[in-house]
Amino acid sequence: MKKTEEQKQKAIKKRKNRLKTMKVVPGALKRRFFRSERGYLPERPEQLKMQMIVTADWHTDGDIVRDRTDVLRRALAGISDTRRVPDALLIAGDLTNSAHLCEYDNMKQLTAWYNRVPKIIPVIGNHDCRFTDMEPRYEVGLNLFCDYCRDCGYNTNYPYYVTEANGYPVVILGSENLRALNRHLTPWFADKNFTDSEILNNMAYISPDQLNFLDRVMAAASHCGKPIIVSCHQPLNTMPGVMENWRCGILGEQSDAVQAILQKYADAGTTILYISGHLHTAVGTIGLQQLGNRLFALDVPSMEYTNGGGEGYVLEAYEDKLRLRGRNFIDGEWLQHADFTILLDALH
Ligand SMILES: [Fe+2]
Ligand SMILES: [Fe+2]
Repeated sequence: MKKTEEQKQKAIKKRKNRLKTMKVVPGALKRRFFRSERGYLPERPEQLKMQMIVTADWHTDGDIVRDRTDVLRRALAGISDTRRVPDALLIAGDLTNSAHLCEYDNMKQLTAWYNRVPKIIPVIGNHDCRFTDMEPRYEVGLNLFCDYCRDCGYNTNYPYYVTEANGYPVVILGSENLRALNRHLTPWFADKNFTDSEILNNMAYISPDQLNFLDRVMAAASHCGKPIIVSCHQPLNTMPGVMENWRCGILGEQSDAVQAILQKYADAGTTILYISGHLHTAVGTIGLQQLGNRLFALDVPSMEYTNGGGEGYVLEAYEDKLRLRGRNFIDGEWLQHADFTILLDALH
């Protein structure tokens, strides 16, 4: 029987509606089942040697229902929302807001529930060294940090240790005590008008033992022929833009000694990437800087505070280059203004 015009129009409408529905369904299915669509596939998956998620300044507090915990929850979900699980997740200091046990507990719960990256690499920050009331109880903060390190698989009694991410050496440095209060005894501070509280609450103290440790592990690690990642919460004093951004945002008295050790191994042919946090500036504000021959420094935004939270970097290591791409893990978007490449073969 021949269809009337009305029946024909009805059939067309029905078909159009069905197509409309289909357009929605495959997209939803893709988002649900094919994580790579929203994830962060490496530039060259077959050649990728190591992928590290670089974050800082989580400032976890003890309240699991506050909005700030939700920011971290969504950021971690975004980090986990990818098909290829990264090799490591670096937290470049200020893990907690005020070094309390409940804050570490909250962080452990967050990572247990929302993080899929198997290896977490924590760095001690100034907020992990003391309580918000500035009570000088460094030992308490250090013990909590070391307990957390043990949870992550590093058996250390110090705020410094060495590990690796898929064969790439990772050296962690951190402030050791509140000796900076004795600034009148140290010539470095003599001509600078920092107050005691500016130094005590923000900068780091790196002891001679820690400097020896750095020299020793750099010597051993440089034999592997791969770039070495060094992380300390505070940026090196010489990092351009840091003092202009925040005059207390520097490592402090021992910065030059740390940099001299790093430069020694960089001059001998090892590419070194020094990663800090502490400044809470947006990705790309300071970004990646070359401080010397083969010595690079990157400052990382706060995953909690900067631009509403969720910002960090994806570090991809290849045989011939390191690539650092800024990403908002909550929005699932690359930050185009923060895309840096270190071409290893072009360095001399
Ligand atoms: Fe911070
Ligand atoms: Fe900090």
